Amino acid sequence: MKMRSVLLGTVFAAAGALGSASAAEVAVTCDTVGQAHDLCVKAVQEWEAKTGHTAKIVSVPQSATERLALYQQILGSGSNDIDVFQIDVIWPGILGSHLLDLKPYSKGVENEHFKPIIENNTYKGKLVAMPFYTDAGLMFYRKDLLEKYGKSVPTTWEELTATAKDVQAKERAAGNDKMWGFVYQAKAYEGLTCDAIEWIDSFGGGDIVNAEGDITVNNPKAAEALTLAASWVGDIAPEGVLNYMEEDARGVFQSGNSVFMRNWPYAWSLGQGADSPIKGKIGVTAVPKGGADGKASGALGGWQMAVSKYSKDPEAAASLALWLTSKEQQKNNAIEGSYNPTITALYDDKDVLAANPFMGDLKATFTNAVARPSRATGANYNKVSNAFYNAVHNVISGKSEADASLAKLEKDLKRIKRKAW
Ligand code: GLC
Repeated sequence: MKMRSVLLGTVFAAAGALGSASAAEVAVTCDTVGQAHDLCVKAVQEWEAKTGHTAKIVSVPQSATERLALYQQILGSGSNDIDVFQIDVIWPGILGSHLLDLKPYSKGVENEHFKPIIENNTYKGKLVAMPFYTDAGLMFYRKDLLEKYGKSVPTTWEELTATAKDVQAKERAAGNDKMWGFVYQAKAYEGLTCDAIEWIDSFGGGDIVNAEGDITVNNPKAAEALTLAASWVGDIAPEGVLNYMEEDARGVFQSGNSVFMRNWPYAWSLGQGADSPIKGKIGVTAVPKGGADGKASGALGGWQMAVSKYSKDPEAAASLALWLTSKEQQKNNAIEGSYNPTITALYDDKDVLAANPFMGDLKATFTNAVARPSRATGANYNKVSNAFYNAVHNVISGKSEADASLAKLEKDLKRIKRKAW
C-alpha cells in the first residue's frame, strides 16, 4: 500500500515537472549582424535550461529587406515553421496581422519599456511585439587621426566632407593608400533608406512622408542633401560603398581604413574589442547637421521579438520572446554587444553606461531620432522605402540628377498611395 502511493506520487510529480505545458520545441530567428548571433544562441540556451523547452535557431539574412521578404513568405502562407520572429521597428504595420497579442503573457512588463516603442509595437490594439533593442544612426570617427591633423569633430556634413577629404589625402601621402574618408550604407536596401533619411532630414528636407501622410520628399533641401551625398562616392568614399551594408562599412572602418563611419551602436563594442586594430581610437558623435541651420538627425531603428499567430505552442514561444527581451538579457546585450536597451531603468545602470559612454552622452540623438514613415504609410511602408532607396541610389550612383529623381519618386509614391495609405 505504502509502496504504491510512493510510486503514484512519483508519477504525479514527474507530470507536474513537465508542467501544464509539456516540453515544447519552438523555432526562433537569430540575427547574423556582428555579435548578435552568439548572444542569441547563449540566451536561447539559458531559456532551454530554465524551462525544459528546446528552441531551433534559424539564422536570417543580414539585410533587413531580405529578412522581410523571408518573413512575408513564411507568415503569408500561414506556415508555423517559425514561432518567434525578430522584427524591425518599421514592420508592426506590415506583419501585425500575422502576430500574436503578447499582452496575455507579458504581465505588464511592457510598462518598463520606452512608451513610444510600445505604441509603435501596438497594432490594432494588440501588443504584437516586445522591444528587444533600440537603434539610432551614429557617427564614428578616428579620434587619433583627427588629433594628429588638428581637426575638430565635424558638426555639419560640409565640415565632415572637408575633414574626410583632407585626412584621407594626408594619410595616403603618409603611406596608407587604402585610406578612405567616410564609409556608410549605400546599397539599394533598407539601410540606405536610413542613411538617406538622415541626410535629408538633417538639411531640413523632412522625412519622406509626414505624420499626416503627405508626400514631402520632393523639395530643394532634399535635393541639396542628395547632391552632396552623390559627391562623396569615389571621392571620400570607395565606389564599392554603393553595395555596402552595415558589416561592409564596419569591416573597412575597423581595419583602420576610414576616418569616419556612419553606423549603429552595435559597431562600438566590436571596434573596442580586444582584437580590434582601432581599439581605444574611436570617437562617437551625432550624425552631422545639414549646414549651420540644419539639425542632427540619426535614424531611428531597432528590433523587437514577436510571436507568430500560427505557432503551435504560443505559450512557449511567448515565454522565449519575453526572456529574450527581459531586463537581464538587455543588460547583458548592452554590455557585451552595445545594443541600446529599451528598458528605461537600464539607462541609469552603471555597468551599462561604463561599457557604452555614448548611451549617456548622446541621449538627444536617441530621443530625437528621425523615424522612417512606417506609421503614416502602414502596410505600404515597404513599397515606399523601396521606391525611396532606389531613387536615392540612382542619384548617388550618378544615374540621375537629384531634382529629376525626386520628382519621379514623388510620382511613384503618389501611385502607391492612391487616395490613402
Ligand atoms: C538596423 C536598424 C533597423 C534598420 C536596419 C537597416 O538594424 O536597427 O531598424 O532597418 O538597420 O539596415
